Amino acid sequence: SWTTGSVIEEQVAAIREQVGDRRAICGLSGGVDSAVAAALVQKAIGSQLTCVYVDHGLMRKGETEQVEKDFVAATGVQLKVVDAEERFLQALAGVSDPEEKRKIIGREFIRVFEQAQAEIIADEGPAVEFLVQGTLYPDVVESGGGTGTANIKSHHNVGGLPEDLEFQLIEPLRKLFKDEVRMVGQELGLPEEIVQRQPFPGPGLGIRIVGEVTKERLDLLREADAIAREELTAAGLDRDIWQCPVVLLADVRSVGVQGDGRTYGHPIVLRPVSSEDAMTADWSRLPYEVLARISTRITNEVEDVNRVVLDVTSKPPGTIEWE
Ligand code: XMP
Repeated sequence: SWTTGSVIEEQVAAIREQVGDRRAICGLSGGVDSAVAAALVQKAIGSQLTCVYVDHGLMRKGETEQVEKDFVAATGVQLKVVDAEERFLQALAGVSDPEEKRKIIGREFIRVFEQAQAEIIADEGPAVEFLVQGTLYPDVVESGGGTGTANIKSHHNVGGLPEDLEFQLIEPLRKLFKDEVRMVGQELGLPEEIVQRQPFPGPGLGIRIVGEVTKERLDLLREADAIAREELTAAGLDRDIWQCPVVLLADVRSVGVQGDGRTYGHPIVLRPVSSEDAMTADWSRLPYEVLARISTRITNEVEDVNRVVLDVTSKPPGTIEWE
């Protein structure tokens, strides 16, 4: 019968057998899947694994620290953190179009990740031949039922890597569903905040600022988002909602009155949704007291924000994210 313990034992043995004395690398996104995959492989091969985390400066408050401290503390994994905030901000300067933002973030991410890979590979020691991926069963099914011939070619257009370098994939979660992955993560001793994490988009806060992405706007949105998350957690609502994007309408201003003066600030949108699989979603009927607390705190504590609005659109027609 299925137990998390037997899954872990089985995978650890299989990974040891597969990797031998060679090395593996794993990209961490801050999400559940890559964290659990990395922890499992770490348990199997220890210091033969190096994880790479690209900090693009578009993460929420505390997320990078969570990977740097909590994840490392729980797993003892060897971690390379690449601070690429400046690079991403420069690449995003002057860009407001959502699709363009996504393309830029995706492109820069791959460049930075591959550069880090190349540096790890260039280190002395046995060859790095394996790439760990947090692929889940639903991912395998959606992409047409994998055959297990998992060889990906690295991108030729990016400098720093040998041509035709090939990695064999290690995908220890390929037979699991999300809830099973969470159970395995828990069994491996990962902190609750990582294991129970709600979905968060790869492009991060970059697609939650309607308008140009700047450091100031990111800092402002990080504050507002942290307040919303704090209050939702305090109200015990984390398991009731699928996720709650917090969006800054940077190109919109409205008149307000705060203290003894007129203000002309930006609105923050709360987008709490309930969903089974993110394909469709309904807007969450959050208690008014919780909404009131979030609104009061954000307008009091976040500079330049004088209005909080609630998104009451289901998906379809609205997507969960605004961009
Ligand atoms: P939408 O906005 O399409 O989002 O209704 C559906 C789900 O996907 C998440 N999302 C992303 N996740 N990279 C990701 O890893 C992305 O580029 C991305 N875009 C949206 C979104 O947060 C929601 O859970």
